[in-house]
Amino acid sequence: MKTWSRKDFLKASLIGGGAALVAGQTRLYGQVAGRAGSANGDIRVGIVGFNAQGWGHLQNYLPGSKSKLDGAVLAAICDVDDKVLAKGRDAANKAGLKVAEYKDYRKMFESKEIDAVVLAPPNHQHSIMTIAALQAGKDVYVEKPLSHNIWEGRQAVAAAKKYAKNIALIGTQNRSSEQIMNAIAALRSGKLGKIKWVTATCYKPRDSIGLHEGPQPVPEGLDYDLWTGPATLTPPTRNGPKGTVHYDWHWFWNYGGGDITNQGIHQMDVARWMLGAPGLPKSVMSFGGRFGYRDDAETPNTLVSVMHYDTAPLIFEVRGLGRKKGMRAMDVYRKSSVGVVAQCENGYINIAENGGAIAYDNDGKKIESFEGSDNGAHRKNWIKAIQTRKVTHGLIEEGHLSTSMCHLANISYLAGAEKANAQLADAVASDLTTKDAYWRMLDHLKSNEVDLDATKPIVGPLLKVDGKTETLSHGDQVITDAANNCPIRKRTGRKGFEIPQIA
Ligand SMILES: NC(=O)c1ccc[n+]([C@@H]2O[C@H](COP(=O)([O-])OP(=O)(O)OC[C@H]3O[C@@H](n4cnc5c(N)ncnc54)[C@H](O)[C@@H]3O)[C@@H](O)[C@H]2O)c1
Repeated sequence: MKTWSRKDFLKASLIGGGAALVAGQTRLYGQVAGRAGSANGDIRVGIVGFNAQGWGHLQNYLPGSKSKLDGAVLAAICDVDDKVLAKGRDAANKAGLKVAEYKDYRKMFESKEIDAVVLAPPNHQHSIMTIAALQAGKDVYVEKPLSHNIWEGRQAVAAAKKYAKNIALIGTQNRSSEQIMNAIAALRSGKLGKIKWVTATCYKPRDSIGLHEGPQPVPEGLDYDLWTGPATLTPPTRNGPKGTVHYDWHWFWNYGGGDITNQGIHQMDVARWMLGAPGLPKSVMSFGGRFGYRDDAETPNTLVSVMHYDTAPLIFEVRGLGRKKGMRAMDVYRKSSVGVVAQCENGYINIAENGGAIAYDNDGKKIESFEGSDNGAHRKNWIKAIQTRKVTHGLIEEGHLSTSMCHLANISYLAGAEKANAQLADAVASDLTTKDAYWRMLDHLKSNEVDLDATKPIVGPLLKVDGKTETLSHGDQVITDAANNCPIRKRTGRKGFEIPQIA
């Protein structure tokens, strides 16, 4: 049983819409923040969700851990899964800490024994928890992406403004990379000439998650109502290597947005930053599909999305299949599989996920390698932000815009329809950069022995984006309604988990 197919989306929308200074760590947190802090003045941190990414965060606050951050200590843990909670408790106890435990984050946020929270649950919980934590007077580090849909992300931005005495920072960690800052400064200097286009790639192996019939069991000891939060309450419909609940939610529209909101948000953020950090694009058009295997998942494993700006177009490409059928090695675009390339008049800069940031001339000869350290800088900057009461890297509004671009790409896809490959070729024929991305996608699919006559591509409409209202339009009212009523554009939560309207 599928939960939210693309068709369901379209149907639903048709019905509805057819219807102070760090002071070299010398001042105590309590003195600058006007809060208690721990007995020795450390920031008392609560972690929400620590199965995988949150586990790394948890280590940052354990005395004796190699990655321990100065000036902060773990005070509470929250997870809806008993097993995960027990793992956190054990780790805390081993480090000599006795921490408060919660299954319900709302109870945790009420505690006066916590100053700040790190939020690392699935994407569909990010905005609602950010808002609740800010309302409760906590400082917030929220993992990327900021939101599951554009509207709730905007509410989180509004909450950060309304409760501005609290710190709100998003975990798009490239924002703290000195190397990337140096590469972007070089781009801005204009020595390579004007930017002609920016292409971001997220070529990352994503295997089939398997095929199962009907609802799958919720693991014992996991509070599924709390896990579902503001999403639609429906039984799990997957049972891959990660089980029925954790991690594979990324591939279901009810909770995630596929790899573009998973790995891709990092490259989208860098791509927008390279373009000069503009707001939302003027338009978006996507095409792709879930190719190469049949499994339970809903999101595309192959996606090309083109966004138009006055400065230059931004092309975003997702590939989950390998370089060739049966191969795990991924395609490489201009020297990286996961990275961002800004093509300028006199050369290009490539910012790769693995840390390389290099300028090349138009013959591919290296001109300059950008240096700079990035040793967990973002998390250190978060502590610094709490101590100085000012966010310098990882601003929530920047996170919202980059996250929303991923959502825009998905909305065009979701508002699209299966078309013959020849029709897709026609649809992209007039735009050189789009056509180039299309041909490269075709080569990739051919190498994976995907027959586009048997599995037709989904071709999304070209949607106009109104950056002020964060809504979409198209010459066809049915498509306009489908796009705006799509839950990736707006979803307000469910009973008990309503997302407050602040903006
Ligand atoms: N910055 C990065 O580079 C990076 C890397 C990996 C993951 N992430 C982000 O971290 C988040 C978590 O990813 P993951 O791979 O750890 O996912 P996961 O599904 O493995 O773990 C999520 C955890 O959150 C818990 N949880 C769910 N709902 C909860 C709730 N209401 N209250 C408390 N706990 C709840 C789950 O029980 C689970 O333990 C994702 O949003 C992901 O995008 C960021």
